[in-house]
Amino acid sequence: MSAKPLRYGLIGAGMMGREHIRNLALIPGSELVAIADPTNEQVALSIAEAGKHLGQMPRGFADHRAMLAAGGLDAVVIASPNDTHIHVLEDLLKAPTPLGILVEKPVVTTPADCDRLASLAKGYPAPIWVAMEYRYMPPVVELRRAVSTGEIGTLRMFAIREHRFPFLEKVGDWNRFAERTGGTLVEKCCHFFDLMRLVVGSEPVRVYASGAADVNHRDEVYGGRVPDILDNAFVIVDFANGCRASLDLCMFAEGSYFQEEIAATGSRAKIEALIPGPARFWPGAEERGSEIVFSPREPKGPVRRTVHVDESVLKAGDHHGSTYFQHLGFRAAMLEGGPVDVTLQDGIRAVRIGLAAEESARSGRAIAL
Ligand SMILES: NC(=O)c1ccc[n+]([C@@H]2O[C@H](COP(=O)([O-])OP(=O)(O)OC[C@H]3O[C@@H](n4cnc5c(N)ncnc54)[C@H](O)[C@@H]3O)[C@@H](O)[C@H]2O)c1
Repeated sequence: MSAKPLRYGLIGAGMMGREHIRNLALIPGSELVAIADPTNEQVALSIAEAGKHLGQMPRGFADHRAMLAAGGLDAVVIASPNDTHIHVLEDLLKAPTPLGILVEKPVVTTPADCDRLASLAKGYPAPIWVAMEYRYMPPVVELRRAVSTGEIGTLRMFAIREHRFPFLEKVGDWNRFAERTGGTLVEKCCHFFDLMRLVVGSEPVRVYASGAADVNHRDEVYGGRVPDILDNAFVIVDFANGCRASLDLCMFAEGSYFQEEIAATGSRAKIEALIPGPARFWPGAEERGSEIVFSPREPKGPVRRTVHVDESVLKAGDHHGSTYFQHLGFRAAMLEGGPVDVTLQDGIRAVRIGLAAEESARSGRAIAL
């Protein structure tokens, strides 16, 4: 890998911002020049993280516009709260010097902003990449390969189960209400809808969801209101090519050994990717291995194996190494003309499925897309 310098600015320096910093530190040539965040404490924590992992001292700004005006950047990483992405993106897309953009999911949170962003970004000359890094978890990469090479026959069903810990506390509690996040099925599940589109290789035509806020955050009150974000749901997605996909989300199931259990079933075999949650929430804080299980219809006898992921990559974040692989791709898109794997269009489509699922859960109706 060339160590050619790539100068980054980070917008939003909270938990995910610091995961980006630790992953950039694993990639030679990454220079974190500046950090913009209105919360002084978060700026200070993230400058310290850059010092510790990158050996660099980025300049701190309270506002991304001041950071952009100061110049000296090739790319920005946007890791501010979901509802701020559109405003930050507007400023970037209108700026005289186009920068590469890696923007956290969900790229936007409302149907109107999906339309607005798509039109604003037309003709933008630098890479815009949406951070849907679950695609890059090494066991998911293996599952994708088994589907695309036809090893399982023709894919008919794609099932994703995520059983995990509740939403964490965030700076300013921005993740407690759907009005700021887009709702749980947008906020966290756009990852899974993106994965469905990618693996199924088709577009969704219909979404049905059943979900509620039943267990978590029931005793919390913000400005007189109890959080409204769903903590459990089933979502069914029908695709144009006849495949069907499902999501089974439970956010009060952190006792589960595997956090994600993903199964692709074709006419000849089933392949499963089993992925543990973040080590820091598991007793002993030990990194656990992910597994792949290949179950042909004939001969019977599933083949199970552990997937190796470098420990330093696992330790750099909460997402089974995927943030690192995503950054490698973004860097190649910036410096070598590599492909943008997760385009703005992909990011917007995943949000639209999430918004339809939220609407379905509210109304009890299936939503046509
Ligand atoms: N890809 C993933 O798997 C993944 C995982 C976690 C979070 N995220 C996404 O990353 C983003 C940040 O989440 P987080 O968990 O780090 O939240 P966080 O609350 O820990 O951090 C958000 C930071 O943004 C700052 N901020 C608020 N308004 C801002 C603005 N206008 N400009 C710049 N900074 C601003 C806050 O002060 C805070 O420091 C969200 O969009 C979230 O959905 C993605």
